[in-house]
Amino acid sequence: MDIDWQIGSPSQWRADAVIFFTFEDGQTLPPGFRKWQDDLAPWLLESPALKDFSGKAKKTALLYGPAGGPIPRVVAAGLGKVAEFDPEKVRGAMSAALRRCRELELETVALPLMALEGLPMDPAVALEEALVGGGSGLYRYVELKTRDRETFSGPTRILLLSEEAPSALLGEASSRAEAVLGGLYLTRDLATAPSNRATPAFLVEAARLLAERHSFRLDVIDEERAALLGMGGFVAVAQGSREPSYVIILEHAPPGHEDDPPLVFVGKGITFDTGGISIKPSHNMEAMKHDMAGAAAVLGTFEVLGRLRAPQRVIGIMPCTENMPDGKAYKPGDVIHTLAGLTVEVISTDAEGRMVLCDALTYARRFEPAAIIDIATLTGAALVALGKQVAAVMGNHDELTQQVQEVGMRVGEKLWPLPLWSSYFDLIKSDVADFKNVGERTAGTIVGGIFLKQFVPDEIPWVHIDIAGTAWADKELNSIPKGATGFGVRILTEIACRWKTMRGK
Ligand code: BES
Ligand code: ZN
Ligand code: ZN
Repeated sequence: MDIDWQIGSPSQWRADAVIFFTFEDGQTLPPGFRKWQDDLAPWLLESPALKDFSGKAKKTALLYGPAGGPIPRVVAAGLGKVAEFDPEKVRGAMSAALRRCRELELETVALPLMALEGLPMDPAVALEEALVGGGSGLYRYVELKTRDRETFSGPTRILLLSEEAPSALLGEASSRAEAVLGGLYLTRDLATAPSNRATPAFLVEAARLLAERHSFRLDVIDEERAALLGMGGFVAVAQGSREPSYVIILEHAPPGHEDDPPLVFVGKGITFDTGGISIKPSHNMEAMKHDMAGAAAVLGTFEVLGRLRAPQRVIGIMPCTENMPDGKAYKPGDVIHTLAGLTVEVISTDAEGRMVLCDALTYARRFEPAAIIDIATLTGAALVALGKQVAAVMGNHDELTQQVQEVGMRVGEKLWPLPLWSSYFDLIKSDVADFKNVGERTAGTIVGGIFLKQFVPDEIPWVHIDIAGTAWADKELNSIPKGATGFGVRILTEIACRWKTMRGK
């Protein structure tokens, strides 16, 4: 999606359609829409379609002006009731409006800045949310379709109409939205791709392309080197798979910040989770192709950071492997020596995410990080506890955990905290090793967090985000189409871009 500014007097503006927002209640149009009507489109006063329009959230009305006008169509998009307004409404309305434009096969759609006047939120934030929401709603995955492929993939261009050059804040909001959409699309492409395509090697290739495009440093640890290093958890899972497995390490070290303590983002990259020897039921098992959504979110975030040339050092660590049953597969009862030196008794080979993440977390320590944030489709229990629209967040540093949660609320990736009190450790005590990889059936998401916590020293602020419920949408959600959601890209991007202010430095 290209986002461009068209700056000049309104008489010079040209587009296939222009988008405005309206509320459900109140007979009056928001002030910017009103101005458009009064100054540029008096025909709107006579438009029965506008009079009939309810303004209900996500509903749209298509309003035609006289033939031959410079902007012949207005798409009015509903925001719902004023009292119920939140940024999600802007994302949903813009998404609905752009989808309507897609049905009409319009290439170039405009959003005048004045459309944001009168919304009860900061205009720069409103602009960013509208653009991200709108672009998000247009996503689709067509790569593997050879027929019945819709020919029209637009609108490909959004014009922002303004009489004057935009303020720095508005300019940044539009560039950030464009970059975020690039990252979101990459994450969704990777997480949607089936596991016979999106293998660990495929993720390495995606990382290589990113590194080339944005001058990131890339290190790829193969199984042999992982074994030499002592990454016993990673190797245990990888040994059951015929696909070569890799730990991907990407580094964005902007000039002048090469030696700053980095933010480290760790993403679970299980390209297919059969459960291994503790095999999963076959019903819905195909969904386990997205068990690398954490790694995909980290890769997508790097796309955003590269496009924005963000002035923050960030390192991404993504352990990538399948989890398969095999003659060589690790087995329940096995005791694994992890990179940290801690021993783990395997109770379920289906708790493989923590087995690979623990070594990635340990490896992160060598970079002396300012903080570590991991993101993983870790436990089905997260879905049971919080549903499909809220991810679980945990950590060893309450202030950072809370900040991450606040960031998530702002960008529409909702997080809710769970406690990691030490009493939960009792659930994973082992008779033969330092601890087990699963507890009883209770507190499944917390147990995943408690397990990972063993591998992060208290001095390093660490946050764990369990996206097992939110990484995949079974049905369309507001501005998110059915399928891989890209959950986490916005949170990680925001944290990287705002890290210095977040930490008060
Ligand atoms: N990849 C799954 C978790 C998952 C479930 C992700 C549903 C997305 C949707 C994970 O590896 C797993 O199998 N977890 C087990 C943990 C259990 C063995 C303690 C689970 O949730 O059942
Ligand atoms: Zn599993
Ligand atoms: Zn898994």
